[in-house]
Order: sequence, then C-alpha cells, then structure tokens
Amino acid sequence: MKEKAKLLSLLAFVLLLPQSKGNPLSRDGDGYQRMFEDMKKEIADYSDVAKKIIDLAIYGRAQNRSYERLALFVDTVGPRLSGSKNLDLAIKYMYKALRMDGLENVHLEPVKIPHWERGKESAMMIEPRNHSISILGLGGSIATPPEGITAEVLVVTSFDELHQRAQEAKGKIVVYNQRYVSYGETVQYRGQGAVEAAKVGAKASLIKTIAPFSINSRYCVTAEESSVGVKQLLIFIP
Ligand SMILES: *[C@@H]1O[C@H](CO)[C@@H](O)[C@H](O)[C@H]1NC(C)=O
Ligand SMILES: *[C@@H]1O[C@H](CO)[C@@H](O)[C@H](O)[C@H]1NC(C)=O
Repeated sequence: MKEKAKLLSLLAFVLLLPQSKGNPLSRDGDGYQRMFEDMKKEIADYSDVAKKIIDLAIYGRAQNRSYERLALFVDTVGPRLSGSKNLDLAIKYMYKALRMDGLENVHLEPVKIPHWERGKESAMMIEPRNHSISILGLGGSIATPPEGITAEVLVVTSFDELHQRAQEAKGKIVVYNQRYVSYGETVQYRGQGAVEAAKVGAKASLIKTIAPFSINSRYCVTAEESSVGVKQLLIFIP
C-alpha cells in the first residue's frame, strides 16, 4: 500500500467548520447577539429566492437533476477519492455541467490535497487451514513490510474487552468482531480500532464491515499513524 503525501491547503477550509459549532454567538456579549439577529434577518430576506431554488429542483426544469447527476457520477466516474484521477474527472464534469446550466463565475482553482493510493492488499488465515479473506484497506493505511505481517489473532467484541485483555494483545493482530448496533455507534471501531489496538501493542487490526450483516462484503483493514502518535500496520499475510 503506497502513500503519496501531498500537502493540504483545503484543510484550512475544512477546519473552519467546527469552530463555530457549539459556541452560541451571543456568548461574548451584545455585539454577537446583534450580529446574529442581523444574520437571521438577512437570511429571511432570501426566503423567496430559496423557495424558487427549491421549486426549480423539485417541480421545475431541474427536477430529478440531483439524482441524475449522482447516478451519472456513480455509474461513469465511480469512487472519487481525494487526489484521484476519478475526482479530476468528476470536477471537470461538474464544471462543464454548471457552465451549461448558465451559472455565473464558474471556475476552477488549483488546490493541494493529500493523495492516497490503494495498492495491492490481501490477507490469509494460515491456521488451522488456509483461507483467503476478502479485505479492503481503509484510506490512509500504511504499508506493511514487503513480506507482510504474520501473527496470531486476538478476537474481541468491544473496546472494553480489548482493554481487559490488553496483556494478550501485544504482538498480535486484533480482530474486532463487534456487534452491530447502528452505523453511528458501531463506526467507532473503524475510526478508532487501529489506534486502540496500537495502544495495547498490537501489530495490526482488522475491523468487521460496519453493517448489520455481510454477504462476503469486505473486511476493512486499518493501519494508521494516529493523532496519538501510535503506528499501526496493516495485516497482510502472504
Ligand atoms: C422525474 O422523475 C419522475 C419519476 O421517475 C418522472 O415522473 C418525471 O417526469 C421526471 N421529471 C423530469 C423533468 O424528467
Ligand atoms: C498455505 O499457504 C501458504 C502461503 O501461501 C503456503 O506456503 C502453504 O503451503 C499453504 N498450505 C496448504 C496446506 O495449502
């Protein structure tokens, strides 16, 4: 799995969003309260325009357009990972489409974004018998050594169990066999699984698909250098 790092200037934009979250505008006094009232009024002034846009999209000339464009993206462009060729195609398509729609000031700007490429990935159970496992590396996973990683697995059903059995996890491949509760709740194993496994000294981690059932859909393997500075490797048993 190869990682080509290119730096991110888009991040500055993305990071702006959480800053206002949870901070009531009025907290710092009357000035903010007034600004908030002004903003409310300004937004309310656009209600006619907003209604026109909604009507256009739902009942008017642009009816079904969002869905049709989504379908086109999915069918002809496919996954659009940041920095990928597909993303480039998607952007070019959208640029043309918006110009054809007659919008003003449609233009492209160069940005720098991180770029991650999926390499070849595979996993195999080698004991008690050989069995090839369908896997998918999570974006941002780091590469294994060329010969892969071979280790015993430790199967846990929760982070609690992992912490209780922390002593056993060292040097192993942690396999999360978590119970599916809901996407919102269960997805924490995908987000944090590698980090928690690395904290207890595991070599790699394997996370079950975040879904209520699986029809041989891929397991996600994760390996990340996390914010806590732990390094976690991808399972790859040749
Ligand atoms: C949008 O899709 C609906 C349902 O398929 C269809 O009845 C309608 O005619 C479509 N509208 C346009 C503008 O194509
Ligand atoms: C299992 O797979 C390993 C690695 O590919 C191979 O060396 C070994 O011979 C296989 N064992 C059996 C019983 O097929």
